[in-house]
Amino acid sequence: MTTTEQRLTPRAMGVPLDRLDGPAKVTGTARYAFEHPQTQPLYLHPVQATVAAGRITAIETGAAEAVPGVLAVLTHLNAPRLADTSDGELAILQSGGVAFRGQIIGGVVATSPETARHAASLVRTAYDEQPHDVVLRAGHEGLYAPDSVNGGYDTDQVQGDVEAALASADVTVDQTYTTPTLHNNPMEPHSTIAVWDDGQLTLYDSTQGVHMVRKSVAPLFGLDPEQVRVISPHVGGGFGSKGNAHAHVVLAAMAARQLPGRPVKLALTRQQMFFLAGYRTPTLQRVRLGADRDGRFSAISVEAISQTARIKEFTEQTAVAARMMYAAPNRRTTHRVTRLDVPVPSWMRAPGECPGMFAAEVAMDELAEACGLDPVELRVRNEPETDPETGHPFSSRNLVACLREGARRIGWERRDPTPGARRENGALVGLGVSASVYPVFRMPGSAARVRAEAGGRYTVSIGAADLGTGTWTALTQIAADALEVPVEHVDLRIGDTALPPATVAGGSSGITCWGSAIVHAARELRGQHGRSPAEGAEAVGETGDNPDTERYAMYAFGAQFAEVRVDADTGEVRAPRLVGVFAAGRIINPKTARSQLLGGMTMGLSMALYEQSHVDPSIGQVANHDFAEYHIATNADIGSLDVSWLDEDDPHVNAMGSKGIGEIGIVGTAAAVANAAYNATGVRIRDLPVTLDAFL
Ligand code: MOS
Repeated sequence: MTTTEQRLTPRAMGVPLDRLDGPAKVTGTARYAFEHPQTQPLYLHPVQATVAAGRITAIETGAAEAVPGVLAVLTHLNAPRLADTSDGELAILQSGGVAFRGQIIGGVVATSPETARHAASLVRTAYDEQPHDVVLRAGHEGLYAPDSVNGGYDTDQVQGDVEAALASADVTVDQTYTTPTLHNNPMEPHSTIAVWDDGQLTLYDSTQGVHMVRKSVAPLFGLDPEQVRVISPHVGGGFGSKGNAHAHVVLAAMAARQLPGRPVKLALTRQQMFFLAGYRTPTLQRVRLGADRDGRFSAISVEAISQTARIKEFTEQTAVAARMMYAAPNRRTTHRVTRLDVPVPSWMRAPGECPGMFAAEVAMDELAEACGLDPVELRVRNEPETDPETGHPFSSRNLVACLREGARRIGWERRDPTPGARRENGALVGLGVSASVYPVFRMPGSAARVRAEAGGRYTVSIGAADLGTGTWTALTQIAADALEVPVEHVDLRIGDTALPPATVAGGSSGITCWGSAIVHAARELRGQHGRSPAEGAEAVGETGDNPDTERYAMYAFGAQFAEVRVDADTGEVRAPRLVGVFAAGRIINPKTARSQLLGGMTMGLSMALYEQSHVDPSIGQVANHDFAEYHIATNADIGSLDVSWLDEDDPHVNAMGSKGIGEIGIVGTAAAVANAAYNATGVRIRDLPVTLDAFL
């Protein structure tokens, strides 16, 4: 085996170091976007469309402007013209058109948030309202094949002859699975402070990537990237929704430009986030599997349908995991999308893999039953020797070991394959399994600077983001090992476009991309200046290419097991026990990694049993747009979560030997729960969430 990247010797890596940002957070000194101190700040409240499709014919702002404390009311009639309107989500207030209910059609700036909010409610709008369509349906007349899907994947993929293989298969499954609209709800709402001073725009923004925000906002205002600075040291979660700038950031920048020198603060309300912060599209997936009597696949077919907005195309890559997951000589995966009068969908934790693996892994459970096979054994039997899509070897693939260890931990040998056979204390009890997978992404464009300071200390700078996940700590551990110094000797700076560029904290790629840049910078410094560089010596390193990316298929794998209890009288469904075993390369920090995986599985349980955005077709919007009605799993819903990982050290992925862990934790959880619910009751759940009415 050739190793392309020179490996890093672990010293600090692998240690369960406490979060370096922890003390600042618990003492309240860590600054989140809205909290950066400003002199005489102003407050901005958006005005939102109250129809789902049409055109504004009149907008009356006099009453809002007359409120004492109001400094400006922005509408499409007076807002600055943007230099670049190519992004339909960001090009707000450029016309009177309305593409979805809740779209930003104005903004009020006032001396207090309460004044701005009140005045915004006084803006009166008349519309030429058009009929709207907000419901995704199979066979929707507007379905089309996009040029590519999220992540740059091919829209369709074909190997062999699926139809012929299905026609001659001993055993087949042909079912349709659905996942609902889901909304990202990070703890910290999306917020921005915009300051326009001397042709310089400064944004304190809650974001997963300061350089991403700069890159998308600068051209809108005809600015060079250097004229925009984005600062974001601490972020209270994002789950993808803060991966790119949304329209409210543009509104804040517009308002700041109208009021030069005055800081303009905008915090979306929780309700506004349901329109303006992205969401996971609903999906409809027809899955067809063909196998012989021994459960060996001859065909896999996934036809995925999702929705996008009128003003911007985003197509969830729902079927991509089916391209590489299991061996099958005949395979077809397709994506179709339709434009509806809905807000712009975007990234939500494991876009693609999360809804895709729900459908495929429930279909696996159905096939296992049809073949009379244990569901773990069915997966083991269909392990591919190489990546079925590319033919490349896997850099490491330990799915089988994860399945075996998970089975041991949940007590799989006690599972009765007959549905409804186990009853305890008035509840039907079942066990279910699902596989998990997430790709190892390596994106170009990150750089790190390492500077030697007095006393053997180092400053390491990179514009990375810590969403609360432990990035700060893990990157410091990587830097310490690259420099061969204790972690206490490393001062890490992140979250500012004044620092070297960093790619987005997305696709579970942060540690791979930023960590590689830091390792390369440290090696460059030591190459030029030796092991003990003089104070002031510095070097820059970039993420760089890894030729192994072209030679190996790189994925993290996992196995998730669930115990589900369904009340025999009421149908109330609970998942008191979840087991997740992962193989994700070297774990940089076991403490923060465990929390990441716990969080992913908790979000997966939440998806399985609770989360669902109900679209009201009559008014054309999500009706349950707050925490009172959009249910997210809370402590009382969580029983035992058993997270562990295998000792895997992948020689090909990067110098650290690590794979991403931010997203894999949510992949497969919902399928494990649905499969356990079937084992408990004999009721097959193909539509999420799993709710009690299914069992009555
Ligand atoms: Mo993750 S949804 O790629 O931030």
